[in-house]
Parts: sequence; structure tokens; C-alpha cells
Amino acid sequence: MVDSLQERIAERSLSYVVDPPRGRDPVIDLVSPRELTALFENATALGFSDQAAAYDDDSVLAAVDLVIKHSVHTSHPRFVNQNFAGPDPVSVAGDWLGAALNTTGATFEAAPVFTLMESAVLSKLGRVAGYLHQSADQVPPLPPGLFCPGGSTATLYALQLARHRIRPDVRVTGSTGEQLTVFVSDSGHYSASKSAALLGIGTDAVIKVASDDDGAMIPSALGLAITSSLAAGQVPFAVIATSGTTVTSAFDNLNAVADIAQAHDLWLHVDGCYGGSALFSPKHRHLLSGVERSDSFVWNLHKMMGMTQQCTALLVREPALLEPCFALKADYLFQPDKLHAEYDSGDRTFQCARRVDVLKLWLAWKHHGDSGFAARVEHSVEMAAYARQRIMQSDGEFAPVTGTFTNVVFAWIPPHLRPISLSPDSIRSLAPEVRSELHNLAPQIKAMMQAEGTAMMGFQPVHGLNTFRLLFMNPAVTKADVDAMLARVSEYGRAVSGH
Ligand SMILES: Cc1ncc(COP(=O)(O)O)c(C=O)c1O
Repeated sequence: MVDSLQERIAERSLSYVVDPPRGRDPVIDLVSPRELTALFENATALGFSDQAAAYDDDSVLAAVDLVIKHSVHTSHPRFVNQNFAGPDPVSVAGDWLGAALNTTGATFEAAPVFTLMESAVLSKLGRVAGYLHQSADQVPPLPPGLFCPGGSTATLYALQLARHRIRPDVRVTGSTGEQLTVFVSDSGHYSASKSAALLGIGTDAVIKVASDDDGAMIPSALGLAITSSLAAGQVPFAVIATSGTTVTSAFDNLNAVADIAQAHDLWLHVDGCYGGSALFSPKHRHLLSGVERSDSFVWNLHKMMGMTQQCTALLVREPALLEPCFALKADYLFQPDKLHAEYDSGDRTFQCARRVDVLKLWLAWKHHGDSGFAARVEHSVEMAAYARQRIMQSDGEFAPVTGTFTNVVFAWIPPHLRPISLSPDSIRSLAPEVRSELHNLAPQIKAMMQAEGTAMMGFQPVHGLNTFRLLFMNPAVTKADVDAMLARVSEYGRAVSGH
């Protein structure tokens, strides 16, 4: 008997997870958009005609094979391109189970198990972050936070909470006409500005505070920025500190920032989307020292911890604020007189339907335990340290630029420019022709790497100069992978520079 289409898709997905691409397998089989479209024409067309007929199972399955072949293999240890990588296989399976059960986490009625799991997991995360001091068996019916569809959305919710605390009427009346302001470092994530735009306070409300050469906010600059905003008649209401910036993984000094936020009575939101997971490691949790003083804290478990996208927890120090900030009490859904209504969490957030992202995290955490989670973080930091060491010992072939924790930022240097320093001051004083030569190398090297599919790493301007960024978080990465990736950069560097 031939298996059903869904069984055959599930079988392929399972083989992919059990035996993922690694070593010399390509990270990407790159083809142009035109070629990709043509490949699908021979299987199942990408587009839909006005009268879309059903395809037979074999044609759809041929398309599934193309999807797998031409997707970027983010589980490959040589994918260090972005701050998600190395999906945890238990989490992948948990995501499938959640999809199979297809419900919404909004009410106990529709999600009895997941409601309790959310409370249990958010309480544990709250204890890990030092927000909660209750014992493990005192899990409250309503958790100290929410699961959100991503870190940007969680920051939007946090700023909504922050504004609600000082201006609860705005929820009903709209703007008060004041210029509210929020402060974030100039290395912080752009979701602060997107959130300000959506909240209607405008992107001008986001005041960028200077960060140091590694990307951490300069606390004295924060103090000055708040004072100037007040002097200009604006109404500061929140500070966003970052724990693990996107490019260099810098950690703001949370205690110093909290002192300033507290002195001005401002809401402190910590963006720990990337670096929050350092809290799992006894060795590295000091990087977030002071996080327990924040009012809200966003933590993307889909980044460093490898939960499938998306898995974002927003912890709130005073969870009782969630309901007045968000609730509208829709009477068809949150009936107060139904069974176990006090467990409904759906009106404490913006969304109506909510994916049960908690399931994959719960399963993975139960499977790995605290020590397994710590090991994942510590392995990543060790691989980053190894890469830094290789860069330092490369006789000037690679120049270190910046990057802490799991992020390594560097440049490949053509022989005639070695040795060269790429400290921030040296970058600023590079001769224009040298700057332009170095600046143009990274995109060309990356393009060759993509074309050959041997690795994927990101590049971005740092102090205006294009540099490579290796992001370590996949537990499958070995020193041999680090060596191989640097060897590829070297090979393509020589090829594009003609040396
Ligand atoms: C520091 C930081 N904050 C926030 C975000 C946004 O998270 P998400 O992609 O889940 O919206 C990112 C994403 O890379 C990030 O690096």
C-alpha cells in the first residue's frame, strides 16, 4: 500500500532531522530565483493559476524534495550566518506534535495541558532570571509573562505595558499630545523603533544612546540623554537595555542602567532575545547581573537555545499589569462563568489565537535538563573562543575586529595589507583606497561561499567597514568546522583578491 502524502512528507522530515547535513555536505545549494522557479515547473509549479487544479502526490513530493534540497541547512554546523542555528531535534518534533494537536493557547478550555505548561515554564524562566522567589511547587495559575510571536513583538508589548503604567488612559483616548521618549543604545535592535512606530509615538521617540566600541551602552550617556529629553519638555517613559546585541553580542551593564532608570522612575525593558540564554550557564549568567531589577525581559529561546522558530518568552515583573493593559473581555471567549476561567491567559496579550510554542521548549528542557541547557551555551562560547584564538594566531591573515561571548567579528586581509590593525580607531583612520578594498572583499567572499555552499556566515559594516561575523550556538560545531570555515574564507579571499 502506498503511504499517504502526509506520511511521505513526514518521513522525509524525520530523515532530515535524524540525519541532518554536516561536514562536506553543502550548507546551501544556491540557484537563482529564475532557475528555482523553473525547477518547480518540473515538479509542482510555485505559482497558482486562476483555476488551481490538484496535483498528484508524486508531483507534490517532487516539490518537497526541491524544498529540502534548496533550503538553507541551518542545522549544518557551518551555518553561522544568523543568531538562530542548530535546531534542537526534540524541539523540532515538539513543534510537529503541537501542529498535529493544532490548538490555541488562549484558553484553558482549548489548551488545558499547554496552559499549565506555560505557567510551569514561564515560572521556571522567571526563577532563572531572578524575577520570582517562589518555590517550584508554587506555580501560580497565571504565569509571570507570556509567550509571544518573536522578540520584536515582545518588545512592542513591553513598551505598551510601559506606556500603560504612566498613561493608562491612552489605551482609550489615543495620544495625549505629549512627546513620549524611550532610550536604547545605538547598537540595540531596530525593533525598538518599529514598536514606537506601531504604538503611535513615532520613531523620533526612540533616543539612541551612544555605546562603547564593543557595542555596550555607555551608562553616563544614558543619564545625559534622559536629562536632555526632560529639559526639552519630553516625557521619558522607558529604557531598553540589551543583553547580547545582534552584531557583537555586547551586554549592557544592567545594574548601572537599572540605577539610572530607577532614579528617573522609568520602565526598564531588557532585550535578552539573544544573550538571555547566558542565564542558563552558571559560568556566564553574570553577564545579565541585574536583570531581576528590570520590569520586563524578552528572551528568544529560538535563538541560542535552538528551539524552532519561534519561541519567545516575555517575563513581566508585575504580571498583574498585563490584564488592565490588554484585556477587552470578549464574552464569547473569556466567559467568566465557564469551567476554570481563572486559568485563561489569552486576554493578557494582544493576540487572540496563539501558537503553543511552549510545548517544544517544555519537551526539550525536560529532555536536556538545566545542565544540558548550560552545556549548549558553554560549548558555543568555547567555539567562539577557539575561533578568536585561530584569528589571533593567523599571522595577520585575519584581523580581529570585535565581538564577545558567542560572536566573532573579523576581516580577511590580503597579503599586501598585512599586518593591519582593525581596532575602531584604526578603522576610522584607514586610507580611503585601503578602506574601499577591504570593504568590498567581504561581500565577494561571501558570494563565492554561497555559490559553492561550503559555509554561510554573515557580514555587516562595523564602524563603517564590512566585516565577517561568526555566530556560534549550534552544539554540533567542532573545532574542525571552525578551521574549515576559516580555510574557506582564506581560499575565497585569495581568489577574489587575485593573490
Ligand atoms: C538583540 C535582538 N533583539 C530583538 C531581536 C528580534 O527578535 P525576533 O527576530 O524574534 O523578532 C533580535 C533578532 O535578531 C535581536 O538580535
